[in-house]
Amino acid sequence: MTSRPELEIRRGDNLEVLRGLRSGSFDLIYVDPPFNTGRRQSRTRIRAVRDANGDRKGFHGARYRTVEIARGSFEDSFDDYLAFLEPRLAEARRVLAPSGSFFFHVDFREVHYCKVLLDRFFGRASFLNEIIWAYDYGARTTKRWAPKHDNILWYAKDPKRYIYRASEIDRIPYMAPRLVGAEKAARGKTPTDTWWHTIVPTSGRERTGYPTQKPLGILERIVRVHSKPGDRLLDFFAGSGSFGEAAIRNGRSCLLVDRSAAAVAVMRKRLAFAAPKLASRKSVSARSRGSRSGRG
Ligand SMILES: C[S@@+](CC[C@H](N)C(=O)[O-])C[C@H]1O[C@@H](n2cnc3c(N)ncnc32)[C@H](O)[C@@H]1O
Repeated sequence: MTSRPELEIRRGDNLEVLRGLRSGSFDLIYVDPPFNTGRRQSRTRIRAVRDANGDRKGFHGARYRTVEIARGSFEDSFDDYLAFLEPRLAEARRVLAPSGSFFFHVDFREVHYCKVLLDRFFGRASFLNEIIWAYDYGARTTKRWAPKHDNILWYAKDPKRYIYRASEIDRIPYMAPRLVGAEKAARGKTPTDTWWHTIVPTSGRERTGYPTQKPLGILERIVRVHSKPGDRLLDFFAGSGSFGEAAIRNGRSCLLVDRSAAAVAVMRKRLAFAAPKLASRKSVSARSRGSRSGRG
């Protein structure tokens, strides 16, 4: 018998929360970390040059002034980002079940660096797909091809033993239905590793107002294909709780972690349908009434 799915929302730094979780206890983890860690530093390299009017006194009374020879704020911030991710990725692998999968959502600016980092923790053989989420919304630059996609890297803890439920994949229309015949055209085809999906509509029920909210359609596909009803799921950069909603609507349990009070408030309100007490309680753990909703 499958037990009822549970939903838990925790506020706090995810590294601390992760360190307190049992090894091997999650079947599927999805994260969508921010680029900016909030620790942007601007490191400046300086050199002292001799100058009779300089403000610093040196050896034998000679005077010096300080000149800036380099400033590296972008690189420093980026180095910080990878250093910030490292211990969290190590913990993510530890808490994954033996047949578990890890989905890492990022964009074209960081994906190459993150892939190299993830290979170190999971092993290259565990890398199974780079999913391109392509959308077509917003302004276009006239200086280069307008970037309109995100990258989602899929790693299995064990590349010989992972969950991929092909029968759960939704079907999409053929681009040229007349080339495949009526029956096939009516059935549609399965998507490849390039997923065309609109961003969260600017007006509409799904929108929470939380910046960087990801669409349910993308996350429900991941949940259905890479986990089973009753499984335990985790998002430790949860934001508005999109992954949690996808999990609960499909009968999976989910732990959501975010350090921001605003994110936790949005999640409590958004997921109150699953556990009404969440909307008002301080401690945010509750049994949910989540079930398959037929959405998607
Ligand atoms: C890009 S947003 C996630 C958006 C989410 N996928 C959604 O659909 O709403 C990243 C989230 O990570 C959270 N965050 C950043 N650093 C964190 C940390 N060290 N611990 C916990 N949460 C963190 C931020 O507060 C932010 O809500």
